Amino acid sequence: MEIIIRSELPAERGASDEILRKAYGGDAEANLASALRAASEFNANLSLVAANGSEILGYALYTRVMVTGSSIMPAAALSVMAVREDRRKLGVAERLVRHGLERCRGLKIDLVFASAIPAYFARIGFRPAAPNIKPNWDLSPDQFSVFDLSGSHLAKLTGVVTYPASYHAR
Ligand SMILES: CC(C)(COP(=O)(O)OP(=O)(O)OC[C@H]1O[C@@H](n2cnc3c(N)ncnc32)[C@H](O)[C@@H]1OP(=O)(O)O)[C@@H](O)C(=O)NCCC(=O)NCCS
Repeated sequence: MEIIIRSELPAERGASDEILRKAYGGDAEANLASALRAASEFNANLSLVAANGSEILGYALYTRVMVTGSSIMPAAALSVMAVREDRRKLGVAERLVRHGLERCRGLKIDLVFASAIPAYFARIGFRPAAPNIKPNWDLSPDQFSVFDLSGSHLAKLTGVVTYPASYHAR
């Protein structure tokens, strides 16, 4: 099996959404992914699949967001991510995250936020975003973490992260 991380093709959206439905046990995250793919903030280079040939094993969608506060800074938020249950614990999600971080770097985005499983993201190098940075939707502060690709922004940044409306309209 040769797993590669690449941009999702439009024809693969159904397969990605099916992985999200199974992983989260419902439609909410697949519906969110559909809404975010249709949003103006969508960037197809930040919609990533883990694939073995034409078989989709995992999906991660990063959405462009903006931090507004002590300065205004473009950022990205990992909005949904799931790996097929029979392909977990092989490092697939970590590759989806690390590849996403590199794509963000290529887009001159230095801050990447995650809004779930902070213990998992801490292993990759994410740090708590609270108390200096919070999202503009109802999220427990301990769930909000951030990877600072610059290595220096976090020390001086305070503010609110504005997500697309579809994100908090769930
Ligand atoms: C979370 C998820 C994407 C990880 O996928 P994966 O490809 O198995 O992840 P990796 O192989 O990179 O890492 C596996 C490790 O993460 C750990 N992990 C998985 N879920 C975790 C969680 N919720 N909190 C902390 N650690 C977690 C695993 O126990 C495993 O640990 P080990 O290496 O010590 O055995 C996958 O379990 C999944 O799809 N879960 C359901 C959806 C979800 O929770 N998405 C995350 C929201 S952004």
